[in-house]
Amino acid sequence: MTRLHNELDLDAYWLPFTANRAFKANPRLIVSASGTRCRTDDGRELLDGMSGLWCCNAGHSHPRIVEAIRRQAAELDYAMAFQLGHPTAFRLAERLAAMAPADLNAVFFTNSGSESVDTALKIALAYHHARGESSRTRFVGRERGYHGAGFGGTSVGGIGNNRKAFGAHLPDVVHLPQTHDLEHQAFSRGQPTWGAHLADELERIVAVNHPSTIAAVIVEPFAGSAGVLVPPVGYLERLREITTRHGILLIFDEVITAFGRLGTAFAAQRFGTVPDIVTVAKGITGGAVPMGAVLVRDEVREAIVDAARDPIEFFHGYTYSGHPLASAAAMAALDVYEEEGLFDRARRLEGVLEDALHGLADKRNVVDIRNIGLAGAVELRPRNGAPGARGGEAFGAAFDRGVLVRATGDIIAVAPPLVALEEEVETIASVLGGALDDLD
Ligand SMILES: Cc1ncc(COP(=O)(O)O)c(C=O)c1O
Repeated sequence: MTRLHNELDLDAYWLPFTANRAFKANPRLIVSASGTRCRTDDGRELLDGMSGLWCCNAGHSHPRIVEAIRRQAAELDYAMAFQLGHPTAFRLAERLAAMAPADLNAVFFTNSGSESVDTALKIALAYHHARGESSRTRFVGRERGYHGAGFGGTSVGGIGNNRKAFGAHLPDVVHLPQTHDLEHQAFSRGQPTWGAHLADELERIVAVNHPSTIAAVIVEPFAGSAGVLVPPVGYLERLREITTRHGILLIFDEVITAFGRLGTAFAAQRFGTVPDIVTVAKGITGGAVPMGAVLVRDEVREAIVDAARDPIEFFHGYTYSGHPLASAAAMAALDVYEEEGLFDRARRLEGVLEDALHGLADKRNVVDIRNIGLAGAVELRPRNGAPGARGGEAFGAAFDRGVLVRATGDIIAVAPPLVALEEEVETIASVLGGALDDLD
């Protein structure tokens, strides 16, 4: 078969978070996908070990989701998002609130994880402003955190490469230490037992800056983009306790963790810790249409909306907030998750993935393997003078052998769709193992 890219001019498209020159010298194109499989332009089938990019939790092109989008596009393509609404967005909001723990009952729609994070940060500021505590403007993020590519998310994020070229960020951001430690946690299965004390650094930050200056702490329940950094036992609980004591809002960025990745609707349920604000995206539509949302506890919404003096209580929103196609796709994705029992399925597959990945412990250059829910990572020793090279080569070797994984530097992450078969989960790990054998 002729490779499609020979007929394409690859020049104009500037790919995001991609080595563009390397990609264009050796392009990899996906032309179709179904279930757990993707097909390349040269006709090869790949097993998707990354759920697209942590988003296709129900597999690709699920017929139910495809049909819902098709029907919605024919019935109502768009309705003005400000001062008007449409029924599907209201139904979806009600459903998300019912799925969420505690009183996370208010739902603000966005179009991506980045927009959800920026929205959540603004809600936190607006909350304190509404309560007469306008001095609370400081945010606390975490080293190695990823919160999207907006200026807000980049500021609270803790990945140096994402920040280095962009000068000033949000003022007043402080970062907690990251929670991963090779010496104390390497090869942990599930949550490491060492490291809850790292949350106590928040007490120091609060003491140095004074609680009256801090608006919110934002963390991913487990850090996905930085390479599946699993929270130590007790860590999130401790963050919750310290933030509550000091009147600081706690934001969980659940863009990766919500909708079954951890075997529950939200990571908050898995970890038994309820934050004040939750950001979601990705799995909300199963990846088929861009959408994000921010879920907010009653008290926060009441302070901003119910107590407002302005008729418009919160001057923020997007043309496509609650877009009809995205709302329809999300309703269908939630149906699929529920009817096919996919969150329980993820929980059942967790042990399969854990055993399969940890079976790679003796491979050359492996310095750590970790996992939680239906996500895991294999960390490789960086090659002398060429950090990231081994990870990139492992990604390429796995791709050539028919499995899609993701490389973040020298860490290989996997996150199979929740519909994957046990054998497919095992294949992802064994093919990755074969790929590692190819590397020096
Ligand atoms: C935790 C987290 N927050 C935010 C984002 C940004 O989402 P998006 O790329 O949809 O803007 C991501 C993306 O991977 C993420 O993992």
